[in-house]
Formats: sequence, C-alpha cells, structure tokens
Amino acid sequence: MSDAGHVPSELRPTLPAWARVSAERLHHIQRVAELVVQWSDQLGVPDSERNRWLRAVWLHDALRDASPAELAAMAPSSPVPAELRHGPAAAAKAKAEGETDRGVLDAVRYHSVGLAEWDMVGRVLYCADFLEPGRRNAGPERAAWAERFPADPQWVLYSVARSRMLYLIESGWSIPQPTLRFWNSLAAASSSR
Ligand SMILES: [Fe+2]
Repeated sequence: MSDAGHVPSELRPTLPAWARVSAERLHHIQRVAELVVQWSDQLGVPDSERNRWLRAVWLHDALRDASPAELAAMAPSSPVPAELRHGPAAAAKAKAEGETDRGVLDAVRYHSVGLAEWDMVGRVLYCADFLEPGRRNAGPERAAWAERFPADPQWVLYSVARSRMLYLIESGWSIPQPTLRFWNSLAAASSSR
C-alpha cells in the first residue's frame, strides 16, 4: 500500500481541530486516506480532485466518537437514527467552518447510508471506508475489490453497496430512504451494463 506521505503537505488535509475521535478511529481514518491516495495515484486524478477526496476522508468520521448530546446539538434535524448522526453532524460543522464543496459535504453527510446523486467523492469515500484493510471483516475478497477499484469503480461501488444492503436486511433493520434510492440507482445502472 502506498503511503500518504508523498502527497505535498498543502494537499494533505488532516483531522479538523473540532474532531472527536479515539486513537483506534484515527487509525481507521488514516487507512482510508492511504487507500484513497493509492486509488488517486492509479487513476491519475489531478491534485485538486485528490484533495477533495482526502477532505471528505478526514471529515467523515471526525465526530464518530462525539457524545449523543453533542451530535444532537450539531445535527438537530437529522432524519436518521442517532448512531447515523455523525456524518450529518460532521458535514454541518464542516460547512459552518467554511467547506463549500457540495460533493465533499454530500460525501460526508451520507457516508453511512449512501446517496444516489453522489459524485466521485461520495463514491470513493463509501468504497474506501468499507474496503480499508483494518476493518473487522476485511478479507481476501474485500482486498480484491480494493485492488479492482481503479479499473472498475462502478462495479466495486455496486458490490460494496450490495454487501451492505444484504447486511442491513439480515440484521432486520429498516432501510433508510436515501439508501433505498442509492441501491435502486446502482441496480438500474448495473442491469443496463
Ligand atoms: Fe469511516
């Protein structure tokens, strides 16, 4: 795996000062960033685009370990269950702190549920968050998907979303509306390939 260290420092976003993350969470975020840098190198995307991807990575779990009271205060009107509030809360905080990129904000806001309208930032974050090698269920299949992403991002996105949908259904949880729309958009695109 490549190291994020070769990215020029001005292009290397880091954790915002307002973040609430455990050491373990920080390591997860770092592994997501490393995977995203690897993909951006393989895809040859411009520095400005890689910077958008990395901003979303560093923001997405920035409030993952904030208390329920802090999250409720930061995202009071969020329509999702409490455990899914950290994305909307981090997006709201980032916006208040000056982040104006709609793609970055949507990537962060919906990273736990999916969004049909995502641009590449949301898609990259959703896949890298799931495929980074330190995840509890990381295995050879997921490593192969991570490997395949630069060549076939749409297939990998579909596979990750399918895996997460199956997990949700097996868990007996209700499916959030954005997740259903996200899944339907991917299923429609997949059947027309
Ligand atoms: Fe994450």
